[in-house]
Amino acid sequence: MLRSTLTLLACLSTAVHSAQQPDPWKDVHSLQNDYKYGGQGDEAHRSKAFCSWKCLKFTLQWPGAFCVTLNNWTRCRVPEDINTWTIHGLWPQRVQNCCGCWPIFPSDIKELDEELLAWWPSLLKAKSSFQFWKKEWEKHGVCVACVEGMNSPLRYFQISLTLRRYFDIHKVLDEAGVKPSCNQSYKVVDIHSVLAPLLGDSYETECVTDDQGREVWFQVKIPLSRNLSLGCPHDRGSPAERRPGLIVSPGHRCPPEAPLYYFPIDYQQPHQPCG
Ligand SMILES: *[C@@H]1O[C@H](CO)[C@@H](O)[C@H](O)[C@H]1NC(C)=O
Ligand SMILES: *[C@@H]1O[C@H](CO)[C@@H](O)[C@H](O)[C@H]1NC(C)=O
Ligand SMILES: *[C@@H]1O[C@H](CO)[C@@H](O)[C@H](O)[C@H]1NC(C)=O
Repeated sequence: MLRSTLTLLACLSTAVHSAQQPDPWKDVHSLQNDYKYGGQGDEAHRSKAFCSWKCLKFTLQWPGAFCVTLNNWTRCRVPEDINTWTIHGLWPQRVQNCCGCWPIFPSDIKELDEELLAWWPSLLKAKSSFQFWKKEWEKHGVCVACVEGMNSPLRYFQISLTLRRYFDIHKVLDEAGVKPSCNQSYKVVDIHSVLAPLLGDSYETECVTDDQGREVWFQVKIPLSRNLSLGCPHDRGSPAERRPGLIVSPGHRCPPEAPLYYFPIDYQQPHQPCG
């Protein structure tokens, strides 16, 4: 038991302290074994490692550009009823991966199905929406569940939906005349003046560079404190999106100088909405 505790802590601290080549699966496997063999003795350490986070990122993605971020567009689809910013996830910061140690089943969140399909759809053909939710729960939600009021799959997804309703950037952008377009680009500073009243100053806009060198806006990360208030004084920024093998150029903060493209959704050619 002691040995597995030490292994776990070593893995976690490696994962936390070095961005190079962490092996996220090592601690997941270690935890799964603990779970399987009833490793209650590790509870304190596990809580410490998984519950010590201070900040959350609530991450929204734009379906019009999501497929542009993939190097193999055949994997991608945008359901025809999706025409708004959708949820990518609610992520505690500086926790690499939680664990598969708290199983989730479709029946746990059945009552939210309709809303989740509308606001949190999978945009990958090979992944059902439930598979997407399950992955988000295991990777992030289990750690969020350390906090009272968020301590079940149902509550985690309910709160995420509530956040999505509250942070309705689609509406705010639309009302300010920032509409998806192929032939008009925006300036980061203009987007900021529209979003800052709702999101504060420390949110992040993320872009990918497409094959024509355009900076394409695909994601927004909103910092929250543990009590879900906007902003997080402890925030130290988030590492760029890491999706090995999937991403054309890594997601990065939209460069302030370059024209920013907010592509419309093209359901037929979601990977190439603008030629
Ligand atoms: C793209 O993904 C599809 C599966 O959706 C696969 O069959 C194909 O081999 C992949 N192509 C490349 C170039 O990786
Ligand atoms: C720009 O694109 C929009 C659709 O995104 C289109 O309605 C409009 O006519 C285009 N304007 C020009 C000048 O091409
Ligand atoms: C929430 O947490 C933040 C940061 O820890 C703190 O500044 C703020 O006062 C808290 N808000 C409430 C309503 O407790």
